[in-house]
Amino acid sequence: EDGDEDVGRVRFPRTSRRLPQCLIIGVRKCGTRALLEMLFLHPRVQKAAGEVHFFDRDDNYSRGLEWYRKKMPHSFPHQVTIEKSPSYFVTPEVPERVRAMNASVKLLLIVREPVTRAISDYTQLRSHAATASPSPPPGPPGQQQPQGQRSFEELALKPDGSVNLAYRPLSTSLYYSFLHRWLDVFSRDQLLVVNGDLLIEDPVPELRRIEQFLGLEPRIGRHNFYFNHTKGFFCLRNETADKCLRETKGRRHPRVDPAVISKLRKFFSEHNQRFYDLVGQDLGWPE
Ligand code: A3P
Repeated sequence: EDGDEDVGRVRFPRTSRRLPQCLIIGVRKCGTRALLEMLFLHPRVQKAAGEVHFFDRDDNYSRGLEWYRKKMPHSFPHQVTIEKSPSYFVTPEVPERVRAMNASVKLLLIVREPVTRAISDYTQLRSHAATASPSPPPGPPGQQQPQGQRSFEELALKPDGSVNLAYRPLSTSLYYSFLHRWLDVFSRDQLLVVNGDLLIEDPVPELRRIEQFLGLEPRIGRHNFYFNHTKGFFCLRNETADKCLRETKGRRHPRVDPAVISKLRKFFSEHNQRFYDLVGQDLGWPE
């Protein structure tokens, strides 16, 4: 979960808090924060602060739509309000709940090559575990070390060498298994699949597709980005500010045994194909 990257805009009269017309539903570690911040460069976009987790947490959902609406930023009538909570994607109850709010909502799903995403997820979990307990006491011989201290290879493969789908960072990368529930509830044209690997390399063309999908005039362009060589990622710029995402976005990944990577990519290839068939788009991930 991450916080807001920005201070709010000045509040004008004639604005009000509106329920989101667009949601970034996931997938975690695919660039959900970058996507929201980049879209916020558009003058007709407003974003919710932080992750609201309205649809996926029962305690929040039971507070009702008025509670959710009050979490939204002030916006003008011609603006689009966007909220992102990446766990929406993987939580079974969410599609129906979203439909109950607005059956014609627009959904953005950002994905990355599944093995890269799994390693990114592993890297984040490890860094959280390190913060939670800086020096865990060594356990007795044979006892499982906390996940944060174990290598990706150990967690991703079972002792017999088969793929360990009980490991969340891997199962979350089975995009097909979550997406079909959304497409049981929403029509295909309400969902745009964003290529998170392209958003890292060259954001403008991906953003152009999204502007079109949201019915916004093309306004985000090259002038809104500059490559930061220290960070290794694009940073954002508009008339008022320059900003890079936080250090928790764009972490250095550990080296993973190439034999394990290729084993996992082979394993994912048939799942990826099912995802391509479902969305009618070939993302071209390596096998
Ligand atoms: P890594 O930290 O593994 O590189 P999320 O916001 O969904 O948690 O996604 C985090 C990922 O956003 C990062 O994963 C990073 O690769 C990606 N990302 C995309 N564009 C970025 C940008 N301009 N700056 C930083 N990270 C970016």
